[in-house]
Amino acid sequence: MDAVVAADAAWGIGLGGTQTLVIPEDRQHFRRVTGRGTIIVGRRTLMDFPGGRPLKNRRNIILTRDENFAVEGGVVAHSVEEALALAGDPPEGVFVCGGESVYRQFLPYCGRVYVTRIYASPEADAHFPNLDALPEWELEDPGELSESGGLKYRFQVYARKK
Ligand SMILES: NC(=O)c1ccc[n+]([C@@H]2O[C@H](COP(=O)([O-])OP(=O)(O)OC[C@H]3O[C@@H](n4cnc5c(N)ncnc54)[C@H](OP(=O)(O)O)[C@@H]3O)[C@@H](O)[C@H]2O)c1
Repeated sequence: MDAVVAADAAWGIGLGGTQTLVIPEDRQHFRRVTGRGTIIVGRRTLMDFPGGRPLKNRRNIILTRDENFAVEGGVVAHSVEEALALAGDPPEGVFVCGGESVYRQFLPYCGRVYVTRIYASPEADAHFPNLDALPEWELEDPGELSESGGLKYRFQVYARKK
């Protein structure tokens, strides 16, 4: 199981329930990395998807504590354990896609984190854990510096240390 995130210079990932920094190259990268696999998202992140709908061509596992919640095109999990059981063993092609609460709860199960690092510092109220400060993580691929719409970014890969 891996995680995919777009994080700003201070590991900020969103404000007021939405993603503040959006670059088209990141959307393409997200599609490339997650392929036709399974994504795990929290209910708040689902609400921020286009039309509040699960993403097409992927299995969507949605986390909520609401026992009555149902959504077409997605399977619902009511706990981390339930989501892990739905993800399968081993959890091949499974990607944790946010938001903050879901990243924090599932990071211990992830082997890699695909980070689109965008070098800007917008206001943020949701963050990804700072992987540079966590001893169990190392930067496996620093990525090449690119630019989109005046924003500098890199596609980085962090790996759990062996
Ligand atoms: N930059 C990026 O790559 C990226 C990616 C994704 C999200 N984001 C941002 O992250 C922010 C949202 O993060 P968030 O932490 O507020 O919300 P979230 O993690 O997307 O969703 C939180 C909700 O998930 C459900 N949930 C979480 N843990 C659960 C558990 N253990 N068992 C059952 N249900 C559980 C609960 O839903 P109920 O309330 O229904 O019970 C909870 O309110 C937004 O700003 C979004 O734009 C950024």
